[in-house]
Amino acid sequence: MSVQLFWGIIFVLYGIRTGGLGSQNSLSVDFYEASCPTVDSIVFDTMTKLAKESNVVPPSTLRMFFHDCFIEGCDASIMISSTSSMKAERELPENNIAQNAFEAIVEVKKAVDRVCPGVVSCADIIAMAARDAVRLLGGPNWDVLKGRLDGFVSSAARAKGKVPLAEADATQLIQAFAARKLSVLDMVVLSGAHTVGFSHCNQFTNRLYNFSPGLKSDPSLNSTFALELEQTCPKGGDPNRFQPFDITTPFVFDNKYFKNLQSGKGLLFSDQDLVNSNLSVDIVRNLASSQEVFFSQFVDSMVKLGNVGVKTKLSVGNIRSDCTAFNS
Ligand code: HEM
Ligand SMILES: *[C@@H]1O[C@H](CO)[C@@H](O)[C@H](O)[C@H]1NC(C)=O
Ligand SMILES: *[C@@H]1O[C@H](CO)[C@@H](O)[C@H](O)[C@H]1NC(C)=O
Repeated sequence: MSVQLFWGIIFVLYGIRTGGLGSQNSLSVDFYEASCPTVDSIVFDTMTKLAKESNVVPPSTLRMFFHDCFIEGCDASIMISSTSSMKAERELPENNIAQNAFEAIVEVKKAVDRVCPGVVSCADIIAMAARDAVRLLGGPNWDVLKGRLDGFVSSAARAKGKVPLAEADATQLIQAFAARKLSVLDMVVLSGAHTVGFSHCNQFTNRLYNFSPGLKSDPSLNSTFALELEQTCPKGGDPNRFQPFDITTPFVFDNKYFKNLQSGKGLLFSDQDLVNSNLSVDIVRNLASSQEVFFSQFVDSMVKLGNVGVKTKLSVGNIRSDCTAFNS
């Protein structure tokens, strides 16, 4: 074989392994091979310990990754705390991610920095922690591409409208994901993250009590399920009450979410509309019929989500020392 052909093959293999030829970023699985070779296991061990202390940690960390990537790209902008002169993106009501996730990322960063100080970004830590959250909940495991830098911007005003709301219909969800080069399949598969965790009542009580003019409740809501929701979330009840997305296995990452949708037990309007819309119903049917298909597609879609808007140039990002504040 000629020398050119040999290097051509190596180049193609390298390109595929690092996220595809022509991809505009340079993330790679072994980005920290020289500077922090054990980073993946430090993150996993710390996440394992934190998950034992609180079962809120895995679901909330998974959700944080989604919000981080949808606002300013995956750059840990979601972690930034407000200051007297700046209202950070996490202040928005739709970014009401459980405090446990913020504390978990800070803890993991400390554990990583004890072994390899100052080299691993908060954005990469969120991506690895989300992977480990899925694994700890019984879902698939995968290699996380790394090399993201932490961003310089976190603004509530700029973040407005970036993350889709619980009232969004399938068409709006498709648009929000397409704006980040994510397909309808990615959108439906990633919504499957709602197989774990909880939602506050106020995200869906309109579906029970004031759905639309002339229609008290959402007709696509299973009536048995609706009665259960009315028990948990009475009209005018405590706004702090919450309901599991998946009533049977809220801490197991499985494909029950898609089966629930098929029997009218999607918790949010945005969940249930995935079977109401013929743009997504076939995908739901596919994922409901095979957990293996769901797992392998979820891995692909999480890797794509982790590529959204990543920063690799030092003009737009750096390695934060405190994930909750810009370096001074
Ligand atoms: C498709 C559009 C999406 C919408 C409209 C949406 C909306 C929501 C809402 C309203 C909640 C409940 C928040 C609360 O009341 O506390 C929630 C929770 C959650 N979301 Fe999503 N989400 C979407 C996509 C995703 C994606 C792509 C992921 C991850 C890949 C995700 C992961 C989660 C998780 C794990 C929870 C539970 C968090 C916990 O229990 O602490 N969501 N989502
Ligand atoms: C509604 O839920 C009940 C109880 O889980 C189930 O037996 C029924 O098949 C569901 N209805 C529909 C229309 O899927
Ligand atoms: C989707 O369903 C609507 C009716 O609900 C129908 O008018 C439309 O043709 C369908 N579109 C596709 C692509 O099947």
